Amino acid sequence: MYVSGLWWIGRAHFFLLLLVPGILGWGDEGHYATCKIAQGYLTEEALAAVKRLLPESAGGDLAAVCSWPDDVRRTPNYRWSAGLHFVNPPDFQCNYNYSRDCHDSAGNKDRCVSAAIYNYTLQLSTAYRNDSSVLESKYNLTEALLFLSHFIGDIHQPLHVGFVGDKGGNSIVVYWYQNKTNLHRVWDDMIIYSALNTFYDSDLTTMIQSIQRNITDGWLNEVSSWRTCPNNYIACPDPYASESISLACKYAYKNATPGSTLGDDYFLTRLPIVEKRLAQGGIRLAATLNRIFTHPSKIAVA
Ligand SMILES: *[C@@H]1O[C@H](CO)[C@@H](O)[C@H](O)[C@H]1NC(C)=O
Ligand SMILES: *[C@@H]1O[C@H](CO)[C@@H](O)[C@H](O)[C@H]1NC(C)=O
Ligand SMILES: *[C@@H]1O[C@H](CO)[C@@H](O)[C@H](O)[C@H]1NC(C)=O
Ligand SMILES: *[C@@H]1O[C@H](CO)[C@@H](O)[C@H](O)[C@H]1NC(C)=O
Ligand SMILES: *[C@@H]1O[C@H](CO)[C@@H](O)[C@H](O)[C@H]1NC(C)=O
Ligand SMILES: *[C@@H]1O[C@H](CO)[C@@H](O)[C@H](O)[C@H]1NC(C)=O
Repeated sequence: MYVSGLWWIGRAHFFLLLLVPGILGWGDEGHYATCKIAQGYLTEEALAAVKRLLPESAGGDLAAVCSWPDDVRRTPNYRWSAGLHFVNPPDFQCNYNYSRDCHDSAGNKDRCVSAAIYNYTLQLSTAYRNDSSVLESKYNLTEALLFLSHFIGDIHQPLHVGFVGDKGGNSIVVYWYQNKTNLHRVWDDMIIYSALNTFYDSDLTTMIQSIQRNITDGWLNEVSSWRTCPNNYIACPDPYASESISLACKYAYKNATPGSTLGDDYFLTRLPIVEKRLAQGGIRLAATLNRIFTHPSKIAVA
């Protein structure tokens, strides 16, 4: 049955939210924040390339379309992309190893979020390799940009690199204050929602500004190290995944056993982690896009 594109996407997203609320990436707010922060750190040349690639519906704003991969992942044409939003180390291994962990549930190698980040970086940087006006490819580079921007966000959400046995916290039922949910969703959405309500006047822009102030102030000394990739790589997702599983062990899984109620103690100690991961995702997305679109001579990716 053929259904017209927009209707289907809208419906699919609607059903998705109703039926399986726990499996989206950072929620829409998290992705919006990461991409908004990134946009502030793009070089002029990278910003121009991004704007050329954005779909018209974005209105020139990358943040507005950063959740697109979540909108389409359950639709028939994009089902192949669903396994690219995360990577799962074996249970209780608080470390990440690409060759051990980067595969889909059927064991096919190189099907995970870090492989996808390499993939879309290569598609974009190859198309852009010599002359700033060249953006040609057999791939859809608009999709490459949206997938890359989304997946660099996802890989910073600690439970997108959570254990395989609990599906990155999706199968750990917990209460967020009085509301029944699961641990993955707490980290995608609930901590951010509660922060918006409690500290930011329910305004995402205010929250983003507060994170941005830390980037130029409290975290200033660390920020340049967030940007660097070893060996002149254009993209380096593996260290981000290592940080995430380490944070998952130290903060996300800790004191969040099945059936537990998470409240003020958990919220107030984990929120700073969430805000810093949003900042790092944004800074690193910008750095990656700048390397792709500003330094055409560097082509080593993996
Ligand atoms: C990563 O996993 C591979 C495959 O399981 C293994 O051969 C390799 O020794 C591991 N590397 C490290 C650093 O543990
Ligand atoms: C790489 O991108 C292409 C085009 O979107 C896609 O078909 C393929 O599955 C991707 N592979 C990975 C590992 O991301
Ligand atoms: C850019 O790449 C294209 C395709 O490989 C090639 O034909 C063209 O000569 C290159 N231009 C420059 C300035 O290197
Ligand atoms: C590229 O992908 C976008 C988003 O799926 C789509 O709207 C657009 O039509 C595609 N472009 C081409 C040339 O297929
Ligand atoms: C619990 O759910 C209700 C209804 O969706 C919502 O209004 C409320 O803000 C939630 N509470 C918390 C702490 O997330
Ligand atoms: C800003 O940084 C301080 C010190 O690391 C931290 O306690 C605070 O939660 C951060 N605020 C935001 C909005 O990131």
